[in-house]
Amino acid sequence: MTFEKIMVTGASGQIGSELVPFLSEVFGKERIIPSDVRPNSTDPRFIALDVTDRTSVDRAMDKYKIDTVFHLAAILSANGEKNPELAYKVNISGMYNILESAVRNKVKLVLTPSSIGVFGPDTPKENVPIETIARPVTMYGITKLLAEHLGNYYHARFGLNARGLRFPGLISYKTAPGGGTTDYSIEMIIEAAKGKNYKCFLRENSKLPMMYMPDALDSLLKLAEAEDSRLKHRTDFNVASFSVTPKELETELKKYFPRFQATYEPDFRQSIADSWPGSLDASAAVTEWDFHPNYNLRATVEDMIIHLKTSK
Ligand SMILES: NC(=O)c1ccc[n+]([C@@H]2O[C@H](COP(=O)([O-])OP(=O)(O)OC[C@H]3O[C@@H](n4cnc5c(N)ncnc54)[C@H](O)[C@@H]3O)[C@@H](O)[C@H]2O)c1
Repeated sequence: MTFEKIMVTGASGQIGSELVPFLSEVFGKERIIPSDVRPNSTDPRFIALDVTDRTSVDRAMDKYKIDTVFHLAAILSANGEKNPELAYKVNISGMYNILESAVRNKVKLVLTPSSIGVFGPDTPKENVPIETIARPVTMYGITKLLAEHLGNYYHARFGLNARGLRFPGLISYKTAPGGGTTDYSIEMIIEAAKGKNYKCFLRENSKLPMMYMPDALDSLLKLAEAEDSRLKHRTDFNVASFSVTPKELETELKKYFPRFQATYEPDFRQSIADSWPGSLDASAAVTEWDFHPNYNLRATVEDMIIHLKTSK
């Protein structure tokens, strides 16, 4: 599959701000159209685009002759609980507009990250397969699950090449995370690297699956380029690199910063974390598109610290 013009929605966010340079490197700068409701003013390629505005989405896809969309615009889990109406609007109307417009504009691929948020308290906790009980209890999870189904529907009904993968918590240092429940991991590493202690908003034993950003970018590209004939799944691939509790992360950080200490004062985000699994079965992604993460917890923390030191 060749990608001539790639639009990235939500490009100013945690993933988008790294995916845009990554895709620019792989496909060439001129092929990437980054867009966001709050555009990055330092990149002249950026266009202002609100994905809830159908006319603007249609106009942008037509004007820039878009044939590929990485649809990242969304409201994340913790922010979604603060403003469920906005989460519904952006995550559902936004997804619908992108899919509808993609069909009309004969787009070749729409790739949308989903999330471990699609799971709920009735889901088994460990090594969770793709097909399982998924009864999310957050607005974020409900919208992400519906978005997966919408993608599958548009594939079955209109032949649209919709693809997606369920990211775990993503750890990165370039752009602040956008209000998710796993943000504690990034905050803890950053505070430790500054020589400060950290008050964690989750319990010390809350185990959640995670992934380092370079592996997340690599998996988005691999799924985008996967042979269609190999795919048995489309929009709901589980991916994860390692699972960790806040206490285990604190212990790993103490190897570099022996005086570092975390305290634990769970807030409303604890109940979101409690509804999510501790580990995922990513075997379908391995079999169908060669998912292969490179960073475990140790390598993630080590690389984060190196980059946080050099970006001071
Ligand atoms: N970061 C993670 O840990 C994680 C984990 C699982 C899944 N995901 C998924 O990955 C995708 C991107 O996540 P992220 O972490 O980059 O999120 P983020 O919150 O950092 O970025 C989302 C971007 O969307 C933009 N946006 C919000 N409303 C918009 C609208 N109406 N129109 C256009 N843009 C709008 C925001 O301005 C922001 O720049 C989301 O679909 C999210 O559900 C992320």
